[in-house]
Amino acid sequence: MPSLFSEFSLKGITLKNRIAVSPMCQYSAENGVPNPWHAVHLGARAIGGAGLVIAEATAVAPEGRITPGCTGLWNDAQADAFAPIAAFVKRCQAVPGIQIGHAGRKASANLPWEGDDHMAPDDERAWQPIGPSPIAYGDNLPRVPLAMSKDDIARVRTDFVASAKRALAAGFEWLELHFAHGYLGQSFFSPIANKRTDEYGGSFENRIRFLVETLAAVREVWPERLPLTARLGVSDFHPEGQSMEESVELVRRFKRNGLDLIDVSLGFNSPDVSGVPWGPGFMVPLADRIRREAEIPTAAGWFLREPQQAQDVIANGQADLVVLARAELDDPHWPYHAAKALGVAIPHTVLPPQYAHWLQRS
Ligand SMILES: Cc1cc2nc3c(=O)[nH]c(=O)nc-3n(C[C@H](O)[C@H](O)[C@H](O)COP(=O)(O)O)c2cc1C
Repeated sequence: MPSLFSEFSLKGITLKNRIAVSPMCQYSAENGVPNPWHAVHLGARAIGGAGLVIAEATAVAPEGRITPGCTGLWNDAQADAFAPIAAFVKRCQAVPGIQIGHAGRKASANLPWEGDDHMAPDDERAWQPIGPSPIAYGDNLPRVPLAMSKDDIARVRTDFVASAKRALAAGFEWLELHFAHGYLGQSFFSPIANKRTDEYGGSFENRIRFLVETLAAVREVWPERLPLTARLGVSDFHPEGQSMEESVELVRRFKRNGLDLIDVSLGFNSPDVSGVPWGPGFMVPLADRIRREAEIPTAAGWFLREPQQAQDVIANGQADLVVLARAELDDPHWPYHAAKALGVAIPHTVLPPQYAHWLQRS
């Protein structure tokens, strides 16, 4: 029976345990370039014992940033700044991962602590978002995106490929495509956000085209020995959203095009989240279903906080990894503390020797 603290191998990469730090935007970059904040944020969680540390949603193009403070990989200066961070994570015995994405119609927002809404159009830092259709998200993100031409679609696909190459050059060993949370990839899949009448909208085949083409193009440049993963919003819990049947079928297509693992999340294509059954581990049954029906390794997250709960997800075979966000913000040493709580024989060994040596008898 696998446990939270058993190794997990995918392609040529082995994680020392099943705990992943979920990608978390820090809204703290300038011109998309990460800095000491990102190094400490990611480094502290690598020291804390997670097997995989995934850097935040990193934009493949300037207009694909969620906020002006988001990181990017559209130029080499950004890759150069990420390189020592990835190396440090690796030195702490964690696998360095990164999520790349494009914010689509949710781009050009204020930092969360400044309002989390679209920047005023006359704000000199604001820019024009793009998306599959000229339909605003609504509520706090009311800006109508420009509908993407086919040239725009081809350009963004190329941007994903170029960013994947830079992620590789920077030393990342795990790549996650951000196809969740209402951002560009997700919005193409969503019948709520995508009302196109060309081959990129309408039918299921058309709504998945941008995602599958992008994945396939990235797989061509991302080495076979390294995991290529995606985060997909499998449900909006909304009557007009994509169905779970469609999500299962899309993941099967992803698998055929070289996807190694799916990080199961929500769609967030609508501000109406009244149908979402928020609660501890509420996404686990969906991850379990995707894992069984699409026959692919999965990562499950959302409201996982208790060590026993995370252990049960892995031991019951509902997911291969747990991805933790707020629990890791609350406690960067969550893996070490979970190992102690679960009675792991030598819990200090989840930590690098610089800490483990001093804690082995405590
Ligand atoms: C500060 C913060 C930033 C986040 N940024 C991202 C992100 O960059 N990419 C992403 O896919 N999800 C992002 N999320 C969502 C988390 O990865 C995670 O899915 C969500 O918080 C639910 O997990 P939790 O209950 O463990 O916090 C963010 C969450 C937080 C709290």
